[in-house]
Parts: sequence; structure tokens; C-alpha cells
Amino acid sequence: MTEHLAATVPSAADAPHAGRSAVVTGASSGIGRATALRLARTGWSVLAVARRADRLASLEAEAAELAGTITGVAADLTRDDDVARVLAAAQAAGGVDTLVNIAGGAHGADPVAEARDEDWEWMFQVNVMSTLKLTRALLPMLRAHGEGTVLILSSTAGLVSYEGGGGYNAAKFAEHGLTGALRLEEAEHNVRVVEVLPGMVRTDEFALVRFDGDEATAAKVYAGVEKPLTADDVADVCAYAVEVPHHVNLDQIVLRPVAQAAQHKVIRRGA
Ligand SMILES: NC(=O)c1ccc[n+]([C@@H]2O[C@H](COP(=O)([O-])OP(=O)(O)OC[C@H]3O[C@@H](n4cnc5c(N)ncnc54)[C@H](OP(=O)(O)O)[C@@H]3O)[C@@H](O)[C@H]2O)c1
Repeated sequence: MTEHLAATVPSAADAPHAGRSAVVTGASSGIGRATALRLARTGWSVLAVARRADRLASLEAEAAELAGTITGVAADLTRDDDVARVLAAAQAAGGVDTLVNIAGGAHGADPVAEARDEDWEWMFQVNVMSTLKLTRALLPMLRAHGEGTVLILSSTAGLVSYEGGGGYNAAKFAEHGLTGALRLEEAEHNVRVVEVLPGMVRTDEFALVRFDGDEATAAKVYAGVEKPLTADDVADVCAYAVEVPHHVNLDQIVLRPVAQAAQHKVIRRGA
């Protein structure tokens, strides 16, 4: 058994991306968690950020067998003092070359006519302001590295509106807009800026958070869709985008399940 593990688990030095280092946000669940693990598998040193410290501790433990490392940093990215702590952790780790902004989410699906201010404010804080605050804080480090990368995970909801999507659409369109400006501004500093825009991804918590823990309503999002994207599918795409040679900038990557040919065309069988 030990011999088998020794043969299949690469040592840190043999790993293809040993020496690479990233801050990954949203790492306590779903896509962010899968991306942190995916990068650690190929040798990255990952600082994993989210609010729930217990989830980050179990992620660290899960990474113990991998070629790279995961170190949790519990932080609420809407708070300036917490963002400063993430920067300090990155400095203490000797710097990072990559920032993967995945933290975000939706609250509510009300039409604009019935929109709740608190839902919209939460979505702007978590998707837009937290991405802005952390990216702004880490940019000097990414520029100084010489080959920095910022990946922003927005959504197809940042490209196409849908009924009941108003607040989430507005936040993800804003994140999309921020990403475009950032790419133009940072090219002269050799920082590449990648945007990953997934369609329907079945994760454990996204729809539950959106519908305030209502499991029946959350389940309807995926009802009858045989193969929605998984967190691992999206993690593989994010990892590919940050692992290709640095001069290759995958500006925008849109991925959907085959069953979701467009925002309004979802194949649901037997639903
Ligand atoms: N699922 C989909 O269908 C889908 C499709 C397209 C795009 N996306 C986007 O993909 C990203 C991840 O979604 P997911 O499906 O993986 O959902 P998820 O499991 O709910 O993940 C959201 C992550 O964001 C973190 N987070 C939320 N508020 C935070 C804050 N104030 N400070 C720090 N971290 C915070 C959460 O951790 P804590 O609660 O521990 O803080 C969690 O790790 C989101 O940006 C989402 O909008 C999702």
C-alpha cells in the first residue's frame, strides 16, 4: 500500500507546478474548494480563503496527501481589516503569483419590482466589492512577481439577464465589467487577467444560499438536468487557465453543461 502511494503521489519537487502559489477565495465549499484541491494536486502552495474556519481546517487536512499545500486563512472579504490579514498571510508565505477570486453567490430570485435592498446589497458586497478589495490589495505583489495572474470567476449571469436574476445579473455584470478594465490596465505590468464564466453548476450550497436554506426550491434549479456542470469540472478549467504558459491569456472562458445550450434553453428530462 505504501509502495503504491509512493509511486502515485508525486513528491513536492516532482509536481509540475511546484513553486507556483495562489490565493484562492470561496475555498470552504463548491467551486473554490475544488479549485484549491485541484491546484494542490499539481504542486501549488494555496492560501485558501473563506469565512468558515472549520471548513478550511478540514480542507487543509484533505490536502495533506497532495503534492502541494493548502493553508486556510479565515476572512470575510467584505471587511477591509480581513482583506489586510489575507495580504499579510500572502506576504508571510513569501508572496503569491496568482489570485483566484471565486467567493460570491446569489441571494433571492425576486423580480425587480419586488427586489429587496438587503439581497442586492449582499450580492454587490460579496461578488463585486470583495473581488475589488482583495484584487486591489494583492496587485502590487502580483506586479512585483513579474508574471502575475488574476482569475475572476463570474458567471454567464454576467452576460445574459433572466427573469428573477436582476440582482445577481447586476452584480455579475459588474464583476465582468471590472474584469475587462483590469485586463486593459494590468497588461503593461505583465499581469494576465482571466475571466471564467460558468453556466449551471450543481454545488451543495449555491442554490441553498440563494433560497435561504429552502431545500425544495433549491432542488428545482437542477430538476431533470441529467448532467449539470460539477465543481470539479469548473476547477479543472480554472486550473488549466492559470497553468498554461504565462504569455497565453485565456481572456474569457464560457462553459455550460450540454443540457444548457443557452440561459433559456435547459433540457430537463422527466421533470
Ligand atoms: N453554482 C453555480 O451554478 C454557479 C454558476 C456560475 C457562477 N457561480 C459562481 O461561482 C462562485 C462559487 O459558487 P459555488 O457554486 O461554489 O457556491 P458556494 O459553494 O456557495 O461557494 C461560495 C463561497 O464563497 C464564500 N463566501 C461567501 N461570502 C463570503 C465573504 N463575505 N467572505 C469570504 N468568502 C465568502 C463561501 O464561504 P464562507 O461561507 O465560508 O465564507 C463559499 O466558500 C460564486 O461566485 C458564484 O456566483 C456559481
